[in-house]
Amino acid sequence: MAEAMPDRKGSATGIKDAERRYPISWSGLSHTVSLRGGRSKTIVSNVSGHCDPGQMMAIMGPSGCGKTSLLDLLGGRVGSGTTSGEILIGCKQHPANIRKVVSYVTQEDSLLTCFTVRETLRYASRLAAIPSKAREEAIQQVIVQMGLLVCADTRVGDPLIKGISGGQKRRLSIAIELLHRSPILLLDEPTSGLDSTAAMQVIEHLRDVAQKGHTVVMSIHQASSRAYGLFDSLCLLSKGQQVYFGPTTDVAIEHFAAQGHECPRYSNPAEFFLDVINTDFGAENGGARLEGLVRAFEKSELASSMREALRQPEIPQDGGVSRESAGPCRQFAVLLLRMLHMNWKNPYIFGVRLAMYIALAFMVGTMYYDVGEVARGGEPVAAAAAATSLLALLFYVQAFLVFMSVAILPFFLEIRDVFRRERANGQITCLPYVLADFLAGLPGVRSLL
Ligand SMILES: Nc1ncnc2c1ncn2[C@@H]1O[C@H](COP(=O)(O)OP(=O)(O)O)[C@@H](O)[C@H]1O
Ligand SMILES: [Mg+2]
Repeated sequence: MAEAMPDRKGSATGIKDAERRYPISWSGLSHTVSLRGGRSKTIVSNVSGHCDPGQMMAIMGPSGCGKTSLLDLLGGRVGSGTTSGEILIGCKQHPANIRKVVSYVTQEDSLLTCFTVRETLRYASRLAAIPSKAREEAIQQVIVQMGLLVCADTRVGDPLIKGISGGQKRRLSIAIELLHRSPILLLDEPTSGLDSTAAMQVIEHLRDVAQKGHTVVMSIHQASSRAYGLFDSLCLLSKGQQVYFGPTTDVAIEHFAAQGHECPRYSNPAEFFLDVINTDFGAENGGARLEGLVRAFEKSELASSMREALRQPEIPQDGGVSRESAGPCRQFAVLLLRMLHMNWKNPYIFGVRLAMYIALAFMVGTMYYDVGEVARGGEPVAAAAAATSLLALLFYVQAFLVFMSVAILPFFLEIRDVFRRERANGQITCLPYVLADFLAGLPGVRSLL
């Protein structure tokens, strides 16, 4: 499946499509949101950095420092607010194929709760256009890599029907994106909720993915010293400001030491840096210390070499080619199958709809029995009254249909989140989804399965 391709250092590493190497860089990135009362808040302020193919980068900082906001900006998922600065993906600003190039594993898992881990990955692999012969092997491989073998046949589950654990859901979300093999992988706290061994395994595996030529950027709020050593570069944020960008090696320790923050021997640098930059708990002179660190970084050699690197962004080695993904017809077929399977697994949702339609038909049928005849040929007064009541019937039926849709609201919210994730990651498009959803909802279609 894999072909050999020299990586940046010249060694031969297995990478399926070598031309899919995309660097990502951002410079002077700021994002401001409006708050109530006409106030505004800058949640990301003048942040710059880059990550090249074959590298893995960590965004670290105290909670609320803007890690998710920065990743949202990089992944093009910003909702409200104004953004300034420049993001280059493979030397281009807003490339047309951004959805096909960037996969983003968000902090919240959006999964279909009725499927097992294996079924979820099976549908993901079909949407990723993995050839049928290689599909089962690819699924099994990713299950093993993400440590999901013990729960491969357990359903994802929801608050009512318990399924896999929170940490397993996290790993399943990563596994789905790994199957899609996007050139750039953004992950928001992929190790949150995992025990230290599982976290280490996941980071080690993501490191392997990076070494195959992918660009991996992740936010992480706690890293063991072993995990920290696996990253190539580090971006430290505090209150949305950049405190450090550079290698994770001794350079980082020396940079902080030069500012008077000597990392004690045998301590975890990642923890030490976070202690230094955290101002949330009213540390003495916390604000001034942070200001000092931000200024010191701006004036440092590291910042100049970063700016130099940003001036000469690396060119992707393809020319617009992106990963493979299913075409509209295939998407339609996979989505239809998945929706029918979902209906089959959730018979009560379909059953509730059917029972309500039958009850509505019975009620309306008995209440308005023969009213049409009276309106057409009865006494003038009775006919007028019957015609008026037919108007009420129209309102009644419409209102009932609207209220009925509330019954499936929780289910709708679940599938909406999955739809949003898949669409934003370029795995599906609207038209095949709408057609498949419409067809799967027709009475009788379910019996095809
Ligand atoms: N749309 C928004 N409106 C107001 N405040 C926001 C908005 N988005 C993020 N924030 C604030 O910006 C800060 C950074 O948020 P976030 O990026 O989620 O932090 P992190 O992921 O590092 O924990 C937080 O203080 C958060 O409250
Ligand atoms: Mg976050």
